[in-house]
Amino acid sequence: MVGSDVLVIDHPLIKHKISLLRDVNCGTKQFREIVCELSVLMCYEATRDLALKRCSVQTPIIVDENSYVLKNKIVFISILRAGLGMIEGALELIPDAKVGHIGLYRNPKTLEPVEYYTKLPKDVENCQIIVVDPMLATGGSANDAIDIIKLSGAKNIKLVCLIAAPEGVEVIKKSHPDVKIYTSAIDTCLNKFGYIVPGLGDAGDRMFGTE
Ligand code: PRP
Ligand code: URA
Repeated sequence: MVGSDVLVIDHPLIKHKISLLRDVNCGTKQFREIVCELSVLMCYEATRDLALKRCSVQTPIIVDENSYVLKNKIVFISILRAGLGMIEGALELIPDAKVGHIGLYRNPKTLEPVEYYTKLPKDVENCQIIVVDPMLATGGSANDAIDIIKLSGAKNIKLVCLIAAPEGVEVIKKSHPDVKIYTSAIDTCLNKFGYIVPGLGDAGDRMFGTE
């Protein structure tokens, strides 16, 4: 735990799988599979404090007055491209969640995010939004995505990433202190090209085989 707004999920399975993912010899197929498996585990932890509402359920025996359902609808929002790889695992956990997409790519020279696509579900004001993107590097992409999501009226937002850089964490903490970040690792730093060190390289390229 690093402060109340950043949770480093310290689970042996997650540490094991992240190490497999970092390995330069992990091929595209295995990379996708592990991202999916990690997304299930990470989203499980990120949903631990979801609000519930009490309901009654007719069991075969009696009416149980102490049953619960989730209070708010869940919306996963993936930051394209690499966030796409986390959606399958997220939906394994919450199959009836809605899914939004925000397309952003980093200008390789300036590292500034460039928006090229946004499609979000309607009426998200009272939904629990969970933004997924494997990498939080400079924080520019997640920051812009959260700006866009807030413009749609959403208020309850969590960010789930696999690997974060300290720089990106600071950006989100400063611009969006209401957004809790869940990550499996906060790495050392960014290199001069804006890649996370040690990191895992370019998540989108490794996931889709476009290196
Ligand atoms: C990657 C990654 C994040 C972003 C993080 O996407 O998936 O969205 O970089 O970097 P930042 O925190 O410095 O903004 P990329 O821009 O490479 O696009 P891609 O997923 O289409 O490859
Ligand atoms: N985006 C990636 O995919 N990897 C990094 O290390 C930084 C940004």
